[in-house]
Amino acid sequence: MHDLSSYNEALSKGLEQAIPVNEPIGLYGPAAYILELGGKRLRPVLTLMTAEFFGSTIEKAMNAALAVELFHNFSLIHDDIMDDAPLRRGKVTVHEKWDLNTGILSGDAMLILAYQLFEGYEAEKFQQLAKLFSKTALEVCEGQQYDVDFETRDDVTIPEYIKMIDFKTAVLIGAAMKMGAIVAEASDACKDNIYEFGRNLGIAFQLQDDYLDAFGDPETFGKQIGGDIIVNKKTFLYLTALERCSPSEREQLTTLFSQSPEDPSEKIKIVKDLFISTGAAEASMIKMEKYTAKANDFLEKIDFSEDKKEAFKSFGDWLLKRKV
Ligand code: IPE
Ligand code: IPE
Ligand code: MG
Ligand code: MG
Ligand code: MG
Repeated sequence: MHDLSSYNEALSKGLEQAIPVNEPIGLYGPAAYILELGGKRLRPVLTLMTAEFFGSTIEKAMNAALAVELFHNFSLIHDDIMDDAPLRRGKVTVHEKWDLNTGILSGDAMLILAYQLFEGYEAEKFQQLAKLFSKTALEVCEGQQYDVDFETRDDVTIPEYIKMIDFKTAVLIGAAMKMGAIVAEASDACKDNIYEFGRNLGIAFQLQDDYLDAFGDPETFGKQIGGDIIVNKKTFLYLTALERCSPSEREQLTTLFSQSPEDPSEKIKIVKDLFISTGAAEASMIKMEKYTAKANDFLEKIDFSEDKKEAFKSFGDWLLKRKV
């Protein structure tokens, strides 16, 4: 794969300085905590890589990349509150280490710090970046609301699920790449094609996240395994299992997904077995491959050298083979 170390080193330096070391520590401490836990940093890497590939530099794209990563980390703090998640990146979540109010306000501050990072760009670029960022952030909120609404609905369809993950996850990956293209002053067609590449890869990425939530290795995944099953998330795995199971299994699955037992281990076990026996787990792999192929079709429309296309494709392959 394309050597990502220069992007990662530059990002680490930038992120170290992204949070003020000022008082009050109760506001900035939790923000620094989640950032220090790292994560894959795939979105800002994609911003830097896209900017470079379209002829700009890491330096020029850095503030946009940092904004994307700050926004992402803000969304994780709030997402963990909404999902009642105990673990993030192998460590205790912000709202459990501190409390709910801390998670809310530190998250808010990170969102504002993200916006401030665009202030260094000249007027024309600032406008394009801020406009894309606002549109994307609102879509993420919409996606998150659908995700929560679906927990208590029993008639969610697969197209509704795809729209939900498109909004909560995929558009940010598309936007991260488009920001790199904006910084590099790429053509409108290139901006749109790279956005669609990132977005379709993002759909595959969330399908994989949902798969790992059920079947990942707790040692490497860094999040509570079975978390989506515990809170009755209507994932592709669940919706596909429901479509393919027998009437009695259907009864069992819907009953389990209307309950929140004190000890969820039995529920998780039964549901995971159904995900496998119905072929839903397999179908989710096929779906991921379909969206990756769709993403690559958009890449083909860009007049990049074969090496650059290969670098993006192998990044996509790496994402789908990941265990973290
Ligand atoms: C987690 O994103 C949230 C989703 C959209 C699935 P990542 O898997 O990119 O999380 P980190 O930043 O690497 O921890
Ligand atoms: C996260 O979806 C999407 C956002 C954070 C906006 P998930 O709820 O599946 O993400 P994880 O699994 O907690 O990282
Ligand atoms: Mg979550
Ligand atoms: Mg969530
Ligand atoms: Mg998840």
